[in-house]
Amino acid sequence: MNSIQHVAIIMDGNGRWAEQRGMPRWKGHEAGARAVRRTVEAACRRDIPVLTLFAFSSENWKRPEHEVRILFRLFQKYLAEELDELQENGIRLSAFGRRDRFSTEVVGALERAETATRHCTRLHLRLGLDYGARYEIVEAARTLALQAVRGKTSPAEIDEALFSGMLSSRDVPDPDLVIRTAGEQRLSNFLLWQAAYAELHFSPTLWPDFGESDLQNALDDYHARTRKFGALPCAARVPA
Ligand code: FPP
Repeated sequence: MNSIQHVAIIMDGNGRWAEQRGMPRWKGHEAGARAVRRTVEAACRRDIPVLTLFAFSSENWKRPEHEVRILFRLFQKYLAEELDELQENGIRLSAFGRRDRFSTEVVGALERAETATRHCTRLHLRLGLDYGARYEIVEAARTLALQAVRGKTSPAEIDEALFSGMLSSRDVPDPDLVIRTAGEQRLSNFLLWQAAYAELHFSPTLWPDFGESDLQNALDDYHARTRKFGALPCAARVPA
Protein backbone atom coordinates (compact mmCIF):
# COMPACT_ATOMS: atom_id res chain seq x y z
CA MET A 1 0.00 0.00 0.00
CA ASN A 2 1.26 3.51 -0.80
CA SER A 3 1.57 5.41 2.47
CA ILE A 4 0.25 8.91 1.98
CA GLN A 5 2.14 11.93 3.24
CA HIS A 6 0.51 14.80 1.45
CA VAL A 7 -2.94 15.38 -0.07
CA ALA A 8 -3.59 18.56 -2.06
CA ILE A 9 -7.07 19.70 -3.12
CA ILE A 10 -8.29 22.09 -5.79
CA MET A 11 -11.62 23.15 -4.25
CA ASP A 12 -13.99 23.82 -7.14
CA GLY A 13 -17.73 24.19 -7.63
CA ASN A 14 -18.79 26.72 -4.97
CA GLY A 15 -20.47 28.95 -7.57
CA ARG A 16 -22.32 26.07 -9.25
CA TRP A 17 -23.50 24.78 -5.87
CA ALA A 18 -25.05 28.16 -5.12
CA GLU A 19 -26.51 28.58 -8.62
CA GLN A 20 -28.20 25.16 -8.40
CA ARG A 21 -29.98 26.41 -5.27
CA GLY A 22 -30.89 29.81 -6.68
CA MET A 23 -28.53 31.45 -4.18
CA PRO A 24 -25.89 34.14 -4.67
CA ARG A 25 -22.37 32.83 -5.32
CA TRP A 26 -21.10 33.91 -1.92
CA LYS A 27 -23.42 31.37 -0.29
CA GLY A 28 -21.44 28.71 -2.15
CA HIS A 29 -18.18 30.07 -0.74
CA GLU A 30 -19.71 30.14 2.74
CA ALA A 31 -20.74 26.48 2.39
CA GLY A 32 -17.26 25.85 0.97
CA ALA A 33 -15.74 27.11 4.21
CA ARG A 34 -17.80 24.51 6.11
CA ALA A 35 -16.46 21.83 3.74
CA VAL A 36 -12.92 23.00 4.58
CA ARG A 37 -13.62 22.39 8.25
CA ARG A 38 -15.10 18.91 7.56
CA THR A 39 -12.21 17.93 5.33
CA VAL A 40 -9.57 19.06 7.84
CA GLU A 41 -11.29 16.95 10.52
CA ALA A 42 -11.50 13.94 8.18
CA ALA A 43 -7.81 14.32 7.25
CA CYS A 44 -6.88 14.39 10.95
CA ARG A 45 -8.85 11.22 11.60
CA ARG A 46 -6.93 9.53 8.79
CA ASP A 47 -3.51 10.67 10.05
CA ILE A 48 -2.69 12.51 6.85
CA PRO A 49 0.39 14.58 7.74
CA VAL A 50 0.00 17.39 5.16
CA LEU A 51 -3.17 18.82 3.59
CA THR A 52 -2.86 21.60 1.02
CA LEU A 53 -5.96 23.52 -0.11
CA PHE A 54 -6.02 25.85 -3.12
CA ALA A 55 -8.12 28.67 -1.67
CA PHE A 56 -7.41 31.64 -3.95
CA SER A 57 -5.44 31.55 -7.19
CA SER A 58 -3.53 34.50 -8.63
CA GLU A 59 -6.11 34.42 -11.43
CA ASN A 60 -9.03 34.76 -8.96
CA TRP A 61 -8.29 38.52 -8.73
CA LYS A 62 -10.10 38.74 -12.09
CA ARG A 63 -13.43 37.98 -10.34
CA PRO A 64 -15.85 40.81 -9.50
CA GLU A 65 -14.54 42.98 -6.66
CA HIS A 66 -17.42 42.13 -4.31
CA GLU A 67 -16.80 38.38 -4.70
CA VAL A 68 -13.10 38.84 -3.91
CA ARG A 69 -14.03 40.96 -0.89
CA ILE A 70 -16.39 38.26 0.39
CA LEU A 71 -13.78 35.55 -0.10
CA PHE A 72 -11.20 37.46 1.95
CA ARG A 73 -13.79 38.14 4.64
CA LEU A 74 -14.40 34.37 4.78
CA PHE A 75 -10.68 33.62 5.04
CA GLN A 76 -10.37 36.09 7.94
CA LYS A 77 -13.47 34.66 9.63
CA TYR A 78 -12.07 31.14 9.27
CA LEU A 79 -8.72 32.15 10.73
CA ALA A 80 -10.36 33.93 13.68
CA GLU A 81 -13.00 31.30 14.46
CA GLU A 82 -10.88 28.20 13.97
CA LEU A 83 -7.66 29.28 15.62
CA ASP A 84 -8.38 27.83 19.08
CA GLU A 85 -9.54 24.56 17.60
CA LEU A 86 -6.57 24.32 15.28
CA GLN A 87 -4.28 24.68 18.30
CA GLU A 88 -6.28 22.23 20.44
CA ASN A 89 -6.15 19.64 17.67
CA GLY A 90 -2.45 20.06 16.94
CA ILE A 91 -2.99 21.55 13.49
CA ARG A 92 -0.32 23.81 12.08
CA LEU A 93 -1.64 26.36 9.61
CA SER A 94 0.49 28.08 7.02
CA ALA A 95 -0.23 29.98 3.84
CA PHE A 96 1.79 30.11 0.64
CA GLY A 97 1.60 32.46 -2.31
CA ARG A 98 2.04 36.22 -2.61
CA ARG A 99 1.13 38.47 0.29
CA ASP A 100 1.98 41.84 -1.17
CA ARG A 101 -1.53 42.28 -2.61
CA PHE A 102 -3.33 41.56 0.70
CA SER A 103 -4.67 44.11 3.16
CA THR A 104 -2.73 44.52 6.41
CA GLU A 105 -5.68 42.88 8.23
CA VAL A 106 -5.42 39.72 6.13
CA VAL A 107 -1.63 39.57 6.49
CA GLY A 108 -2.01 40.12 10.25
CA ALA A 109 -4.61 37.33 10.58
CA LEU A 110 -2.40 34.92 8.62
CA GLU A 111 0.70 35.74 10.64
CA ARG A 112 -1.18 35.38 13.93
CA ALA A 113 -2.47 31.93 12.94
CA GLU A 114 0.92 30.82 11.64
CA THR A 115 2.70 31.94 14.79
CA ALA A 116 0.12 30.45 17.17
CA THR A 117 0.19 27.03 15.46
CA ARG A 118 3.84 26.80 14.41
CA HIS A 119 4.65 24.08 16.99
CA CYS A 120 1.66 21.88 16.09
CA THR A 121 2.59 18.56 14.50
CA ARG A 122 -0.55 16.45 14.00
CA LEU A 123 -1.52 17.92 10.65
CA HIS A 124 0.02 20.67 8.56
CA LEU A 125 -2.79 22.58 6.85
CA ARG A 126 -1.44 24.72 3.99
CA LEU A 127 -3.60 27.30 2.26
CA GLY A 128 -2.66 28.47 -1.24
CA LEU A 129 -3.62 32.15 -1.28
CA ASP A 130 -2.80 34.41 -4.23
CA TYR A 131 -0.84 31.41 -5.48
CA GLY A 132 0.13 30.60 -9.05
CA ALA A 133 2.64 27.88 -9.88
CA ARG A 134 4.19 29.62 -12.90
CA TYR A 135 4.84 32.76 -10.86
CA GLU A 136 6.43 30.66 -8.11
CA ILE A 137 8.68 28.88 -10.63
CA VAL A 138 9.72 32.12 -12.32
CA GLU A 139 10.53 33.70 -8.92
CA ALA A 140 12.70 30.68 -8.01
CA ALA A 141 14.51 30.97 -11.38
CA ARG A 142 15.04 34.70 -10.81
CA THR A 143 16.50 34.08 -7.33
CA LEU A 144 18.90 31.45 -8.67
CA ALA A 145 19.90 33.69 -11.59
CA LEU A 146 20.69 36.53 -9.16
CA GLN A 147 22.73 34.18 -6.98
CA ALA A 148 24.65 33.05 -10.07
CA VAL A 149 25.32 36.65 -11.17
CA ARG A 150 26.61 37.45 -7.67
CA GLY A 151 28.85 34.36 -7.70
CA LYS A 152 26.96 32.66 -4.84
CA THR A 153 25.84 29.72 -7.02
CA SER A 154 27.33 28.39 -10.21
CA PRO A 155 24.96 27.36 -13.01
CA ALA A 156 26.47 23.87 -12.87
CA GLU A 157 25.33 23.52 -9.25
CA ILE A 158 21.68 24.13 -10.10
CA ASP A 159 19.79 20.86 -9.86
CA GLU A 160 16.28 19.72 -8.93
CA ALA A 161 17.02 19.68 -5.19
CA LEU A 162 18.42 23.23 -5.23
CA PHE A 163 15.47 24.44 -7.31
CA SER A 164 12.93 22.72 -5.02
CA GLY A 165 14.57 24.47 -2.09
CA MET A 166 13.61 27.83 -3.61
CA LEU A 167 9.89 26.99 -3.64
CA SER A 168 7.30 27.64 -0.93
CA SER A 169 6.91 23.87 -0.51
CA ARG A 170 10.52 23.41 0.56
CA ASP A 171 9.56 22.07 4.01
CA VAL A 172 6.90 19.57 2.91
CA PRO A 173 7.03 16.44 0.73
CA ASP A 174 5.57 16.64 -2.78
CA PRO A 175 1.85 15.82 -2.88
CA ASP A 176 1.12 12.12 -3.34
CA LEU A 177 -2.46 12.83 -4.34
CA VAL A 178 -4.09 15.86 -5.96
CA ILE A 179 -7.89 15.94 -5.80
CA ARG A 180 -10.00 18.32 -7.88
CA THR A 181 -13.72 18.61 -7.21
CA ALA A 182 -16.69 19.56 -9.40
CA GLY A 183 -15.72 17.31 -12.31
CA GLU A 184 -13.09 19.59 -13.85
CA GLN A 185 -9.96 17.77 -15.02
CA ARG A 186 -7.06 20.23 -15.05
CA LEU A 187 -4.41 21.58 -12.69
CA SER A 188 -5.12 25.29 -13.27
CA ASN A 189 -1.61 26.51 -12.38
CA PHE A 190 -1.56 24.58 -9.07
CA LEU A 191 1.68 22.99 -7.79
CA LEU A 192 2.97 22.35 -11.33
CA TRP A 193 6.49 21.49 -10.12
CA GLN A 194 5.49 19.59 -6.98
CA ALA A 195 2.74 17.50 -8.61
CA ALA A 196 5.08 16.00 -11.22
CA TYR A 197 4.47 12.46 -9.89
CA ALA A 198 1.23 12.99 -7.96
CA GLU A 199 -1.72 10.72 -8.55
CA LEU A 200 -4.72 12.73 -9.76
CA HIS A 201 -8.28 12.12 -8.60
CA PHE A 202 -11.21 14.01 -10.13
CA SER A 203 -14.34 14.01 -8.00
CA PRO A 204 -17.74 14.96 -9.44
CA THR A 205 -18.80 16.37 -6.05
CA LEU A 206 -19.12 20.14 -5.83
CA TRP A 207 -16.78 21.42 -3.12
CA PRO A 208 -19.49 22.55 -0.66
CA ASP A 209 -20.83 18.97 -0.63
CA PHE A 210 -17.39 17.39 -0.25
CA GLY A 211 -17.15 15.29 2.87
CA GLU A 212 -15.65 12.29 4.60
CA SER A 213 -16.89 9.73 2.02
CA ASP A 214 -15.53 11.77 -0.92
CA LEU A 215 -12.12 11.99 0.75
CA GLN A 216 -12.25 8.26 1.44
CA ASN A 217 -13.13 7.54 -2.23
CA ALA A 218 -10.12 9.55 -3.33
CA LEU A 219 -7.86 7.73 -0.86
CA ASP A 220 -9.20 4.33 -1.95
CA ASP A 221 -8.56 5.29 -5.58
CA TYR A 222 -5.02 6.37 -4.63
CA HIS A 223 -4.29 3.17 -2.74
CA ALA A 224 -5.41 1.11 -5.75
CA ARG A 225 -2.80 2.76 -7.97
CA THR A 226 0.71 1.46 -8.61
CA ARG A 227 3.23 4.28 -8.33
CA LYS A 228 6.28 3.66 -10.45
CA PHE A 229 7.95 7.07 -10.74
CA GLY A 230 9.08 6.05 -14.22
CA ALA A 231 10.56 2.71 -13.07
CA LEU A 232 8.99 -0.77 -13.16
CA PRO A 233 6.57 -2.03 -10.50
CA CYS A 234 8.44 -4.17 -7.91
CA ALA A 235 6.93 -7.48 -9.11
CA ALA A 236 8.03 -6.86 -12.70
CA ARG A 237 11.68 -6.07 -11.86
CA VAL A 238 14.16 -8.68 -13.12
CA PRO A 239 17.73 -9.03 -11.86
CA ALA A 240 20.32 -7.35 -14.16
C1 FPP B 1 -13.81 27.61 -6.54
O1 FPP B 1 -15.19 27.58 -6.77
C2 FPP B 1 -13.52 28.08 -5.22
C3 FPP B 1 -12.85 29.24 -4.93
C4 FPP B 1 -12.32 30.13 -5.96
C5 FPP B 1 -12.64 29.69 -3.55
C6 FPP B 1 -12.36 28.63 -2.51
C7 FPP B 1 -12.82 29.19 -1.24
C8 FPP B 1 -13.47 28.53 -0.28
C9 FPP B 1 -13.71 27.08 -0.28
C10 FPP B 1 -14.06 29.33 0.86
C11 FPP B 1 -13.38 29.26 2.17
C12 FPP B 1 -11.97 28.84 2.21
C13 FPP B 1 -11.26 28.77 3.37
C14 FPP B 1 -9.86 28.34 3.33
C15 FPP B 1 -11.84 29.11 4.67
P1 FPP B 1 -15.82 28.49 -7.93
O2 FPP B 1 -16.34 29.71 -7.30
O3 FPP B 1 -14.80 28.70 -9.00
O4 FPP B 1 -16.97 27.55 -8.41
P2 FPP B 1 -17.62 27.51 -9.88
O5 FPP B 1 -16.55 27.02 -10.82
O6 FPP B 1 -18.74 26.54 -9.73
O7 FPP B 1 -18.09 28.90 -10.21
